[in-house]
Amino acid sequence: MNNLFGKVIFGLALFMLVINSCVNKTGDKTNLPVTPATVIEDNLALTPPMGWNSWNPFGKNVSEKVIMETADAMVSSGLKDAGFTYIVMDDYWQGTRDSVTGKLNFNPDRFPSGIKVLADYVHSKGLKLGIYSDAGTMTCGDQPGSYGYEQQDAKLFAEWGVDYLKYDYCYCNDYGSENNDYKEAIARYKTMGDALKATGCPIVFSICEWGPRAPWLWGKEVGGHLWRISYDVGDKWDEPRNEHSQIGILTAIDAMCNLERFVQKGGWNDPDMLVIGLRNSGFIKGGGCTDEEYRTQMSMWCMFAAPLMLGCDIRNMSDATKNIILNKEIIAINQDALGKQAFRVMRKDGVEAWKKPLAGGKFAIAFLNRNSGDETVTAGLEQLELDPKMTFEAYDVWKHEKVNQPSGSLTAKMKSHETQVFVLSGK
Ligand code: GLA
Repeated sequence: MNNLFGKVIFGLALFMLVINSCVNKTGDKTNLPVTPATVIEDNLALTPPMGWNSWNPFGKNVSEKVIMETADAMVSSGLKDAGFTYIVMDDYWQGTRDSVTGKLNFNPDRFPSGIKVLADYVHSKGLKLGIYSDAGTMTCGDQPGSYGYEQQDAKLFAEWGVDYLKYDYCYCNDYGSENNDYKEAIARYKTMGDALKATGCPIVFSICEWGPRAPWLWGKEVGGHLWRISYDVGDKWDEPRNEHSQIGILTAIDAMCNLERFVQKGGWNDPDMLVIGLRNSGFIKGGGCTDEEYRTQMSMWCMFAAPLMLGCDIRNMSDATKNIILNKEIIAINQDALGKQAFRVMRKDGVEAWKKPLAGGKFAIAFLNRNSGDETVTAGLEQLELDPKMTFEAYDVWKHEKVNQPSGSLTAKMKSHETQVFVLSGK
């Protein structure tokens, strides 16, 4: 009995220590685990994470000024209210690694106040801070990587109050080398996943291996909450998959095909960040897209239950960009409680239909026009893999209105590269 009592007291003390270390270090009470369960069990990213990442718009020029102003804009633009929470600093926040202590420093010129102060600022806005590192000796931008320093870095990130880690795979053995690089990738990601767990702080783990080692098969097991399934999406519509080079929006859509069965709550396929609103400005370039193409990216990423990481400068957005990324009805499809990824049910002459089961017996259907001209499509319920006897009401989430549809089928008119999305509810 005494022994049991002792164990309970010890357990409680340990729990308080974990809570306190996250309290003291983040300085943000809203960010805290509220029950022991949220610390011990992992209830993170139960819906696809939503936020912003510095890479597409700022690349090497990320700074604390940019991060703070972006946090302000997240609130003032209404993006926070629409569900966008994480502000992720990608590569180039780092300075040197101390050769004696091994401590990873931040870049003192661009982050003069330090990451802890930055995290406190972001938390004071009711938002969360993300950071970036790499499973190799260096990051993709030649900054110090975390290989060999995983526990030390994870502890440091937790002490700073970081809520999210994007973990890249540069400076590891190349795909196709003689090494068993599947096993090596799994081991490297598990080392960091375990180190993050050991901090006792709720840190979302974003695996960025780009897909060649099929992270959808092992991402969850190593502690990941999302995993990239393809290479970087550039600000362009279509470009074939090519290792270490940008791909187009359409290429990423095709890469998501047939991966729906690997998605679960807390474990999402990530087709990379959004390029919506870049218009060939910012760091990554790519030529730019039309508004229809940007709307297709938003539509399909929502149909996929993909993480929604904005990639434009949200301090200066056009009305067209705002209309796309602040559409709460398409976001609701992304965040739907069932957590399913859409799958392709129809493909004919460049027009396709995708279906996403939603909570409450509803379905979202997206029609995508890959062609360079306008298209009108009519699909029977059977073609959409729906019950042909079903009577339904169709709601157009871009027009924001109920639409009359002939019974037993669905019709959509699309401009070139446009996607239309309907929510069907049974009558
Ligand atoms: C890789 C990743 C990108 C970005 C850069 C940073 O290319 O895929 O998303 O993080 O590294 O160097």
